[in-house]
Amino acid sequence: MSTVPNIVQYQGSKRLLAPQILRHMPQRFARLVEPFAGMASMTFAAASEKRCDAFWVNDLNAPLVDIVRMATEQPQQLLATYRCVWQAQFCWPDGHIAHFYHVRERFNNGEKTPEHMLYLIARCVKGAVRYGRDGQFNQSPDKRRHGTRPEKLEHNLRTIATLLGGRAQFSALDYREVLAACRPGDVVYMDPPYQGVCGTRDQRYLAGVDFDEFAAALETLNRRGVDFLVSYDGACGEKSYGRELPEVLDCSKVLLRAGLSTQALLLGKKEITREALYISHNIRRNLAMPQTLHPSPVQAELFGAAA
Ligand SMILES: C[S@@+](CC[C@H](N)C(=O)[O-])C[C@H]1O[C@@H](n2cnc3c(N)ncnc32)[C@H](O)[C@@H]1O
Repeated sequence: MSTVPNIVQYQGSKRLLAPQILRHMPQRFARLVEPFAGMASMTFAAASEKRCDAFWVNDLNAPLVDIVRMATEQPQQLLATYRCVWQAQFCWPDGHIAHFYHVRERFNNGEKTPEHMLYLIARCVKGAVRYGRDGQFNQSPDKRRHGTRPEKLEHNLRTIATLLGGRAQFSALDYREVLAACRPGDVVYMDPPYQGVCGTRDQRYLAGVDFDEFAAALETLNRRGVDFLVSYDGACGEKSYGRELPEVLDCSKVLLRAGLSTQALLLGKKEITREALYISHNIRRNLAMPQTLHPSPVQAELFGAAA
């Protein structure tokens, strides 16, 4: 696969797993829909492989979607405005850390522009977007980095505009509204917030997703003949995270190899982290995959880790 473009390092991004996930998608389909798009890694990956000619990028967090929209429709403008914000950190009277807090405050006070969002992601700790209970962006700056250089961004923005230009629609809706508008021929790739956190809210995101409501929404996709894939938690070493999606959905589950766990490495252990991918029965039938909700480790290797 050609190199997949990336706008900015974003925690939770599926960029590195994208080649493994693509193996479980049909070779060609009408439209890729990403209801929980984040930084839209799977959209970029599918577009790079020319799997389809139409894309729908959605995320409840509107400034995130605005970044991807601007990258696609007005890359030069996004680059120019980002460059302006990025360069200001070097001449800010109180230094670049104070500049980050200044931009964060402007963002939280209503200036939720794509360039502010992009700068905050590029400069914050681990590219990890965090919101407080009051809905305010509250992540701290990474004191050792200045964030993605505009020169580096430029190349990727150009590639994204070429790949998606004139082929993508954008929205900032709740995922249920998006699913209600999906149709047979679409492939819906879903990467909802991590469910291994209590309740329905994950502080990494603006909102959470209720497990039962999510499962019910998937059931309606099955009934309407819409193909889907879901990334949903996984396992590290012997330990599994998150609830299984209900068997009634009749999905296949494969475990993708996501790399060595940094948590375990800190404790001196070498453990492989695996991320679960659920594949709807229609896709599985067409790709002639075995029906298995709980694959053996061998099957998991076969499907997920052959890279
Ligand atoms: C794990 S991230 C997706 C990362 C993405 N796959 C990528 O590669 O960048 C989950 C996303 O779901 C979004 N989200 C949370 N609740 C949502 C909802 N109810 N409807 C739509 N999007 C939602 C969050 O804003 C977040 O960007």
